[in-house]
Amino acid sequence: MSIIYKQEEKYFNLHTQNTTYQIGINQYGYVLHNYYGRRIADVSMNQLLNLYDRGFSGNPSQAGRDRTFSLDTAALEYTGCGIGDYRISSCGVLNEDGSMAADLQYAGYNIYRGKQGIPGMPAAYDNGGECETLEIVLEDPCTKLRAVLIYNVFEKADMITRRVRFENHGDGAVRLERALSVCLDMQPGSWDLIHFHGRHCMERQPERLRQPHGITRISSKRGSSSHQHNPFVIMAAPETVETNGDCYGMMLVYSGDYAAEIEMDQMNSTRIVMGINPDTFSWKLEKEAVFDTPEVIMGFTHEGLGTLSQMYHRFIRNNICRGKYKNARRPVLVNNWEGTYFDFTHEKLEAIAGEAAKLGIEMFVLDDGWFGKRDDDCSGLGDWKVNENKVHLARLAQTVNEMGMKFGLWIEPEMVNEDSDLYREHPGWALKIPGRDPARARYQLVLDFSRVEIVDAVYEQIASVLSSCNIEYVKWDMNRSLADTWSAALPADRQGEIRHRFVLGVYHFAERLVNDFPHVLLEGCSGGGGRFDAGMLYYAPQIWCSDDTDAEERVLIQYGTSFGYPASTVGSHVSAVPNHQTGRISTMDLRGMVAMSGMLGYELDLTTLKKSDKTKVRQQIKTYKKYADLVMNGNYYRLTDPVKEPDYCAWSFVSENRKKCLVNFVNLHTRANGPLINVRFRGLNPEANYKIQGEKNQGGQKIYNGAALMYGGYIFPVFTGDGETVQLYLQEVR
Ligand code: DGJ
Repeated sequence: MSIIYKQEEKYFNLHTQNTTYQIGINQYGYVLHNYYGRRIADVSMNQLLNLYDRGFSGNPSQAGRDRTFSLDTAALEYTGCGIGDYRISSCGVLNEDGSMAADLQYAGYNIYRGKQGIPGMPAAYDNGGECETLEIVLEDPCTKLRAVLIYNVFEKADMITRRVRFENHGDGAVRLERALSVCLDMQPGSWDLIHFHGRHCMERQPERLRQPHGITRISSKRGSSSHQHNPFVIMAAPETVETNGDCYGMMLVYSGDYAAEIEMDQMNSTRIVMGINPDTFSWKLEKEAVFDTPEVIMGFTHEGLGTLSQMYHRFIRNNICRGKYKNARRPVLVNNWEGTYFDFTHEKLEAIAGEAAKLGIEMFVLDDGWFGKRDDDCSGLGDWKVNENKVHLARLAQTVNEMGMKFGLWIEPEMVNEDSDLYREHPGWALKIPGRDPARARYQLVLDFSRVEIVDAVYEQIASVLSSCNIEYVKWDMNRSLADTWSAALPADRQGEIRHRFVLGVYHFAERLVNDFPHVLLEGCSGGGGRFDAGMLYYAPQIWCSDDTDAEERVLIQYGTSFGYPASTVGSHVSAVPNHQTGRISTMDLRGMVAMSGMLGYELDLTTLKKSDKTKVRQQIKTYKKYADLVMNGNYYRLTDPVKEPDYCAWSFVSENRKKCLVNFVNLHTRANGPLINVRFRGLNPEANYKIQGEKNQGGQKIYNGAALMYGGYIFPVFTGDGETVQLYLQEVR
């Protein structure tokens, strides 16, 4: 049993293998957060609560003359609003009488084995017997609004997922102005916030801040999880490093507007809340209606950031990603985008495919430009009919298949160009506000995916193309942020629902796609990694990580991405030099090593590749295939920090049984007479010996001891050129 209720002392313990999460119910009927951290026995932790009379922190009426209990200072499991807690709230309401208060008090609980899905939304799933669920019902005695707090305990994975179901049991409608998924009042102490910010072409860069007094906010209101901030944050004790220290992760399983707010209050206590971004959200909850928030994946470890990342990697691989390719090696692909952009002919595509087949590439992907009048980005989006003047899709797919490769296709379902038949026929299908001209981005408008009939109409068009020939991969792109949100289908007082309904429309499309085309490998994309989140990973087991294909920049992007997401989710390609984003010329070895640290692909005109590069491509593909299982399913270690040490970077993949390890080292900037580079390996068996393949200048295979490599380190040779790489493969020897 991972969930225990202690009736007399009135607390729940949620135990995972190494952690305990404790929830208490106090004498006044409030649900308190007692503890989350290293595993403890079944003892009450309510000694951690802040029970002092504090000036200007009032008391609920049930407390009578007891001035020590205040909603303003108590550690709460989930807050109400407008009733005397002045910190950030988990929810916000507008009642029929105009009041803005919700007093959420304990009203019961339920414990059961297994886990229920969330209607219409992605969520972690139970593979059978992995999970136990606790539901705690909170109710406002006055309005009868209920918030059901749902906790799913994945004992072995050391993960807890949380979400909230709002139920309106009152007599009238209530408006939810804020409906967050999670609230965590941390143990007293200082905490650092680690979050992942970025921009188009430089996503998920880690930043670590000591949490100041006041509120820090990480969020998106772009209609997608965004390039700018990722819906994953870590709270770490100040001394926490890769290899040691307390840290908590919070990852939202959601692909739209979101916010994580962190507040250090007057008592130096820290609260973190996370969920749908309240700025762009307002939901009318009719009598008897239900609203489900998205889910948050929470993890804790005292073993540092490296272990926390591995916990998320495992969980995403096992409990988020689904389908045929969940654990299967992904085919090595060539994508024509950077090779041709819009400027291709059928013959040109065949020529690239022909070269690809000769090099051992396993899939040819036709990117943007195959449909409608799509010769540049000004027109054609929305017209999902093959442009036969440019390409004969069925013939191309067949030729590619005959060459022994799979065939894949690019789509961008949520978008429309004004210069398209779809827009001319249905101008009202695009998001725009009556009387205003909508903002364009990349010359495109956004379709109103909050309307399921529009989603279905686009889906039918695309599905008919996908059924027209043997398509085994789809790249789903999204190339602008939302603006001008207004929907003809909703009355004025429900327009605040559009952004969330839009995301539900995206999920509806995705669910249909994966159900109707289970053999298809779906790759997510939003101008690279603008929608790189656990929500999309529920449908697409890999996501194009960034539009920046420069290997040196990719080292940073993949480093930041690795904090929350496994290598199996990272689409990564070798592209041409000079690089199209930076103009940098990097070696084929560097480009190959970086790309094969994710799901390997090529994105260049292979017909112009030099002979020597072709030899390298063949070798890279062989190497990728050889180590694919380690890269996809091994434990990932960030061995160096390329932000602090920008001259080089090393990372490794270690098998669960510690018998095999792949170390990738890239030399980014050579220094004349440079200092020694010593890297300590991690995750090996300290007692085992390893033979190492791939050493430079060592003259034959040497045997190394695991402890020596981890506690002493490994000295990499002196490098003579930028972009040199070393790949070491360690195997345990008896
Ligand atoms: C943005 C994507 O990230 C690129 O890889 C490419 O598919 C273009 N869109 C096509 O328009």
